[in-house]
Amino acid sequence: MPARLFILYLFVVLTPVVHCSSNLPITPYIYERLVYFIKASSISSCISDNLLLVNKTFNDGGCPPHINFCNDEIINPTAGQTVIELVLNAKKGELGSGYLAVDHGKKVVILAFRGSTTRQDWFSDFEIYPVNYSPLCVKEYRKLIEEGKIRECEGCKMHRGFLRFTETLGMDVFKKMESILESFPEYRIVVTGHSLGAALASLAGIELKIRGFDPLVLTFATPKIFNSEMKQWVDELFETDAIEKGSILKNEIQFRKGYFRVVHTGDSIPMVPPFYHPAGLEMFINKVGLPQNAEDIEYRGKNNRLTLKDGFREGMSGLVEDWLHVYEHRAYFIDVVGCSEL
Ligand SMILES: *[C@@H]1O[C@H](CO)[C@@H](O)[C@H](O)[C@H]1NC(C)=O
Repeated sequence: MPARLFILYLFVVLTPVVHCSSNLPITPYIYERLVYFIKASSISSCISDNLLLVNKTFNDGGCPPHINFCNDEIINPTAGQTVIELVLNAKKGELGSGYLAVDHGKKVVILAFRGSTTRQDWFSDFEIYPVNYSPLCVKEYRKLIEEGKIRECEGCKMHRGFLRFTETLGMDVFKKMESILESFPEYRIVVTGHSLGAALASLAGIELKIRGFDPLVLTFATPKIFNSEMKQWVDELFETDAIEKGSILKNEIQFRKGYFRVVHTGDSIPMVPPFYHPAGLEMFINKVGLPQNAEDIEYRGKNNRLTLKDGFREGMSGLVEDWLHVYEHRAYFIDVVGCSEL
């Protein structure tokens, strides 16, 4: 093991783990949703081969037939009722691709982002440099502040690399979302993604929230992207404390809206970059290998304890690029490996 990796490893292992587990059960419903949405996230990698087609259902060519999740109604009973509404195609090889689909069976609108990219330099010193955060929907943001509905995100900074890649999140997405919700006002919105795609899902979720939607943001294996001021603001925006309290009160995870973070305990990506912070409510996968069942998941709620000490930036980026490919980063209920068999 190279020395720098070993030192980092020691820090990961020795950082005290302080958390008060709320012991809320992972119900069959929540487990089913977690598996469903990691698969929905995973098929976003089919976008690079133009294999997701607009205005088609999953099992009618909207999504590649070699994927069981797309065409096998035993594996995905709502495949025939899920229509792809929009495909976001980022510049070749760049982050920011995703799709918008409506599952009329589950009554959810899915906005999923692709995690893989051919330009994996997201953790280079330049990319992780914190920059001031400002939402895309500035007009709506200002209005909410004036109305006293949210507070200004003061001192908010975030990971530059991800902020840059919200470019594809244009008016098309919001307009489409608005028109879907007009026709189906009772549908819920779920914004999701794995790894780097989860970082984009976080930002898209914030924009939707600012535009008056009330999404469930479900991130898998997301790196940390906010400074502490922004983490606080994001938790306020998504009412993390209130959802946590409601869940404990009812002894049932409130899983209709808010910001959630699913983390594999052996995955290093959710711990980096060390000087940034995660937000939201956490669920941990405590089993390394597949299959991972409901009893392998632990709800930890507002915990956000994962920290590596600052000062370990040197040589980080190379390491992190490696971590993006290790098994523990991919083993989230399925092996998340691009547009292949699911
Ligand atoms: C999808 O359907 C909508 C509404 O019918 C239409 O406006 C749009 O052009 C279609 N898009 C494609 C790519 O076929």
